[in-house]
Amino acid sequence: MADEILTERDGHVGVIRLNRPKQLNALNLALMEQLACALEAFDADDDIRVMVLAGNERAFAAGADIKDMADASVVDQYKRNQFARWERIKRVRKPIVAAVSGFALGGGCELMMHCDVIVASETARIGQPEINIGVMPGAGGTQRLTRAMGKATAMDVILTGRFLTAQEALAGGLVSRVVPVEHYFEEAMKIARVIAEKPPLAVQMAKESVLKAHEMSLSQGLEYERKLFYMLFATQDQKEGMQAFIEKRKPEFKGC
Ligand code: CAA
Repeated sequence: MADEILTERDGHVGVIRLNRPKQLNALNLALMEQLACALEAFDADDDIRVMVLAGNERAFAAGADIKDMADASVVDQYKRNQFARWERIKRVRKPIVAAVSGFALGGGCELMMHCDVIVASETARIGQPEINIGVMPGAGGTQRLTRAMGKATAMDVILTGRFLTAQEALAGGLVSRVVPVEHYFEEAMKIARVIAEKPPLAVQMAKESVLKAHEMSLSQGLEYERKLFYMLFATQDQKEGMQAFIEKRKPEFKGC
């Protein structure tokens, strides 16, 4: 199987790059399988505290591989069970920082929205253009884009297939930061390194709790948050963090 992704380690940061440049990183089944496996491997690795997911300057990912599915029947699609990989990505507990440049379209936009912090280059073009090829988003686009940007923008983007600029995405709350194209990857790494210095269990529980905001009522979410907050008092990192503050020194977090 070709290397549809490339992985490397940078201290506590696990880096994954999508690697189908000729196809603008179109997400075929092999890539999605390798991506899900790589994310799970980093998630299970005690030395890794955060991941960075990137494409290249021209494309983060231009969507699901259209050539892969053009002739598929419903039965083919059902048997392929492609969304099983997306479910695995959704279950990753450590934070994922997306480094997005160029096209993030269809499944590429949906993959971006599975990430937790999103750095976009000024050249990013983000959209859900499935409507142009006779379908609609299938990996969460109608739900996550609507939750992030609201109904009016989601309808505009999904029904017309138009691309958002990075600045529009920032203004609408879809991405976290926009930087010049020459800095987008380094900015994502910088954010990942900052997160990697924080107490890992508190980071993971904070991610879990923020994601619940889209799934629960406010009072259920507040209750959920409170339980995770209490739970962190069972960690050594809570004792270390508070003691270090009192002693006016830098804390050393161990992830236990
Ligand atoms: N699937 C397969 N191949 C793709 C692709 C995709 N999603 N996107 C681009 N490519 C391929 C092109 O076919 C082309 O290959 P060849 O050189 O072999 O012809 C190569 O990548 C470069 O693309 P273009 O020549 O089209 O480049 P461009 O700069 O003229 O246009 C683009 C760029 C606007 C992104 C255009 O490629 C495009 O519209 N791509 C499709 C975007 C799309 O519709 N995405 C949604 C897919 S469906 C989906 O994602 C479903 C889901 O929710 C799960």
